[in-house]
Amino acid sequence: MSQVEIKPGLADVPVAQSGVSFIDGKHARLSYRGIAVETLALESNFEETTWLLIKGELPTQRELTNFDQSLRQRRSLHYRLIELLKQLPENGHPMDSLQTGVAAMGMFYPQRDATNPAQRWEASLKLIASIPTIVAAYARLRQGKDPISPHPDLDHASNFYWMLFGTVPTPSVRKVLNACLILHAEHSMNASTFTARVTSSSLANPYATIAAAVGSLSGPLHGGANEEVLQMLMEIGSVEKVKPWLDEKRKADPHFKVMGMGHRVYKVKDPRATVLQELAEHVFAESSRPVLYDIALALESYAANFYSAKGVYPNVDFFSGVVYRALGIETDLFTPIFAIARISGWLAHWHEQMKENRIYRPEQDYIGKMDAPYVPIDKRP
Ligand code: COA
Repeated sequence: MSQVEIKPGLADVPVAQSGVSFIDGKHARLSYRGIAVETLALESNFEETTWLLIKGELPTQRELTNFDQSLRQRRSLHYRLIELLKQLPENGHPMDSLQTGVAAMGMFYPQRDATNPAQRWEASLKLIASIPTIVAAYARLRQGKDPISPHPDLDHASNFYWMLFGTVPTPSVRKVLNACLILHAEHSMNASTFTARVTSSSLANPYATIAAAVGSLSGPLHGGANEEVLQMLMEIGSVEKVKPWLDEKRKADPHFKVMGMGHRVYKVKDPRATVLQELAEHVFAESSRPVLYDIALALESYAANFYSAKGVYPNVDFFSGVVYRALGIETDLFTPIFAIARISGWLAHWHEQMKENRIYRPEQDYIGKMDAPYVPIDKRP
């Protein structure tokens, strides 16, 4: 029996020093480069927050204007990348098409030397600007529609909405979309961010690094929770059914987990959920308030009777799916939108990793056989 203590999932094991974001799960605090995420969601926009995460400081007006312009100039995809997306099966998952598209970008765009700071920055711009274009293009192609070209007069979040629907979002939709992107932009050493750091530590090209991170995010234990929340709320169906639904589930399984609740780090209500709710209510006041939102509120309130003592409260994904659905976005695009946001955090960690890189090479605790004989094939049982 081995005496080595293994922490499954590297839980609580620090793997890098980082100055990108800070989480205090007991006190519902999350900050990017020291600034509270709630403040950023209300006051900032995605472009500014992305600069902050990657560069470490808020931009000056001139830096922000140049950054914004640089992104707008890089939104269009090489026509052969669009051709590639057209070849993918229309019933595939958009996260798979995104991973394919990002990996292929590394073959079309030459500036990909991870050791060269100028090329690192160029690749960062290209990735931030192009990922929404890949997501929107595939979303339309699979419906037999032509992709919509990026709109040069729109900001990052509004342009994504434009490329999906061909209309310009209202100011409150633009605000909530920006907030969703900001709230999902970074979250310390999660699985996809760690994947990005591990992949990049071999000096893999930036497109390979981000494609690996997209793959990691695609799993249901990481990026997929908001899709599952929406399915759960639809299954409940009405506010009146919340109590009998939860009673029934708890009776059938005492360890039943409500999707969108609980978090490895937060033991109080996720601060991102609180701010998202506030902004979503502005959008709902403008159009109609979705029944799914009322079901979510009723579920939050009834679930508190059983789970608050365990520190289980809504996380950000408890509400984000309801918001996206209210905007008319298809359920399987929720995780790709997470990737559109999280590119900022991945890149911030990549730049940090490149500053003092050492290839990741952890140790294992070998528990297999020793000195096993090689048995010729005709002598094997
Ligand atoms: N609903 C009901 N009870 C929950 C719960 C939930 N969503 N999440 C945790 N609990 C309970 C557990 O049953 C456990 O109770 P016990 O001590 O009586 O056995 C206790 O809270 C601790 O749970 P644990 O699974 O150890 O917490 P964790 O930190 O390992 O897990 C999650 C965190 C996120 C994986 C877990 O809360 C979960 O599966 N949530 C639902 C999926 C989700 O929303 N994921 C997105 C996260 S951003």
